[in-house]
Amino acid sequence: MLSYIIQGGNELNGNVVASGSKNAALPIIATAILNPEPVTLYNIPDIEDTKITLEILKLLGCKITKNNGKITICSKNMNKTAIPKELMHKLRSTVVLAGAIIGRFKEATFSYPGGCNIGARPIDLHLDSFKKLGITIDEREEYIHCKCDKILGKRIKLKFPSVGATENIILSSVYAKGATHITNAAKEPEIKDLAKCLNSMGAKVFGAGTGEITIFGVKKLHKATYKIMADRIETGTLLCAVAGAGGSVTVENTNPENLLTVLYSLKEMGCHIKINKDKISLQAPKQLKAIDIETEPYPGFPTDMQPIMGALLTKAEGKSNIKENIFENRFKYTEELIRMGANIIQEDKNIEITGVTELVGKEVMSKDLRGGAALVIAGLMAKGETKVNNIEYILRGYENLDIKLKSLGANIKKEKVN
Ligand code: UD1
Repeated sequence: MLSYIIQGGNELNGNVVASGSKNAALPIIATAILNPEPVTLYNIPDIEDTKITLEILKLLGCKITKNNGKITICSKNMNKTAIPKELMHKLRSTVVLAGAIIGRFKEATFSYPGGCNIGARPIDLHLDSFKKLGITIDEREEYIHCKCDKILGKRIKLKFPSVGATENIILSSVYAKGATHITNAAKEPEIKDLAKCLNSMGAKVFGAGTGEITIFGVKKLHKATYKIMADRIETGTLLCAVAGAGGSVTVENTNPENLLTVLYSLKEMGCHIKINKDKISLQAPKQLKAIDIETEPYPGFPTDMQPIMGALLTKAEGKSNIKENIFENRFKYTEELIRMGANIIQEDKNIEITGVTELVGKEVMSKDLRGGAALVIAGLMAKGETKVNNIEYILRGYENLDIKLKSLGANIKKEKVN
């Protein structure tokens, strides 16, 4: 097991560069399965989730070459359409590989995906959409087999704007006969990035970033080079770290437009924020103020930032309320914050945080990716030493989080413990 050992209390100051987006990189890597021509990607974050995804592509027969921070994937000789169960279980986004495999080969075999245990996370919307596109689904024991003669463009109305289901519909209908029209599509910036990447290789995806997306089927894709967008959740995490620890930071190479609700919340809490093209600067106030937050699909407050804000709000003066509307099991980090002295009461989908609390360093356990990052923020704000165990979760989604925080002045080190 790996842990972070943090000595709290240091102010953080300086500049830091945002990494490529985890949630955009995963479906964008899947575009290389659809496209038999070489796909070169820049700005792929070096994290466990992208490593596992690339490992799966290799296993399926793709050739992968890495050169100077760019990765070229060639799926010309890809000869397998089944994703091994062990790898499928390692992360949830493997499910979007299914859409790309079906889109290219008209068949795919996969199992229920894994990923963070933050709620039930069913894939019914993905499978129902596949059925609408003319794909036959055969669910047998642990494996799901999908097959069709051709994919037929259809009108698909999603019951909920699921990010993964929207990505899977787009990926599976790039070569469809006719047009596919999604209503109530997810509007997340990562969907826009996926569409932009696909269009750069000759696909015809329109409306991404809105609730109505149309995909006109094309016959083939061509060679492409694409740079993945900045990680808006990592940017938000770094800003919250400084808001909590004190000091000032500029996050560079990011996209402020993708983070407006988070920036607004930080401003409401009293932080001074400056936006300049692809840079966000934040100066922590003397005293943070309590605010209320409710998670919603984009452009609402992102559920992935909820635990991180939750940790930060323990240091705010007054009562803050958080309502989690997307995942039902995303408050597990609060048990650990309470052990560090936080005053948090949970009732169903809501928590009430009363501050100001000066957290006290403790040995705590990450239980999921963003909950783990929340504990790192808590450790930076706490008095004394905090040991965050099980950081394998954090390493799944953050590139060099400890190194970036250290460069700003944090006292944090990674340690292997048995
Ligand atoms: C993606 C992000 C994740 C983020 C989430 C919501 C990736 C790799 N992960 O996850 O970081 O927290 O969007 O912004 O991009 N649902 C169903 N049936 C389905 C699919 C989803 O009921 O078939 C429900 C889920 O249980 C959840 C809600 O819809 O309650 C949102 O899920 P979804 O938008 O699909 O999230 P993911 O794509 O898994």
